[in-house]
Amino acid sequence: MKVVYNSMIIFVKEDYEAMSKKAANMVAGQVNLKSNSVLGLATGSTPEGMYRELVELYKDDRIDFAEVTTFNLDEYYELPIENDQSYAYYMNKNFFSQVNISSENIHVPNGISDDVAGVCEAYDRLIERNNNIDLQILGIGNNGHIGFNEPDVKFEAGTHLVQLDEDTIEANARFFKSVDDVPRKAISMGIRNIMHTKKIILIANGANKASILKEMLFGPVTPNIPASVIQLHNDVTIILDKEAAKYVLEELKMRGVIQ
Ligand code: PGA
Repeated sequence: MKVVYNSMIIFVKEDYEAMSKKAANMVAGQVNLKSNSVLGLATGSTPEGMYRELVELYKDDRIDFAEVTTFNLDEYYELPIENDQSYAYYMNKNFFSQVNISSENIHVPNGISDDVAGVCEAYDRLIERNNNIDLQILGIGNNGHIGFNEPDVKFEAGTHLVQLDEDTIEANARFFKSVDDVPRKAISMGIRNIMHTKKIILIANGANKASILKEMLFGPVTPNIPASVIQLHNDVTIILDKEAAKYVLEELKMRGVIQ
C-alpha cells in the first residue's frame, strides 16, 4: 500500500522482510541512478534486514558500491570500535565487509577521540565537501529520536556530543550485558545535517513504534519529538510494516486520506 500525506510518501508493507526489501530496492535505485551517491546510514535492529538485502543485491550483481561514499549517523562515545556493540563494528559486520565499498569512502563518527569538538566539526565539513548526503536512511527510537537526537534537541545543531536519554539507554540495554554497560553519551549527526540531506527514507517495524510514528506524522513539529522535523523536509519516504503502521493507518482513515 502506498499513501501520500503532507507531501510524504508512506509505504505499508506486509512484514519486516517486505519493509527491508523495499528500502534496499530504493537504495539500489539511488546508487544505480548515481553511482557516486553519498549515503547516510543508520544502525539498530531495524535496518539489519535492509543491509542483508543490499548484500544479496550486490552478490547478484544488481548494485555496485565502488564509487559510493557513506556517512553513519552516530557512534557511542568512548566505546572502542573493536567492541561488538560499537556502530563501526555493526556496520563492518552487517554491511561494509560484505560489499565492494572502499574503506576510504566510509565515515563513522570517531567516538574515542580526545577532541570531540574537532571530530564533530570535521565530520560536518566532510559531509559538506561531499556536497551533502543524497539519501539518508533513518530509524526512529521509541522516544522519537532520529540518529541520537534525543527529545529537546536543538534543531539547528550539526554533529555533536549527546547525552543519551534514559529511554534510549533502556531500549539499547538489550544489546549489552547489563544496562550499566550502555554508554551514556554518543556522537550524532544533528537535525541540521539530516534536514540538509536530499532525500530521507525512514523505516520502522513492530507494534512498539506505532504510537511514536503517529506523533511524528500528525503531531506538531517540536524538539520534544525530534523525528517530527521530517514533516518539513521536501523528500521523505516512510516504509513501515503493518504493525508499526497501525495508528498511522487509523489516523489516515479518520482524516479521509484513505478508505
Ligand atoms: P532500533 O532503533 O532499530 O533498534 O529499534 C531505532 C533507533 O533507535 O533509531
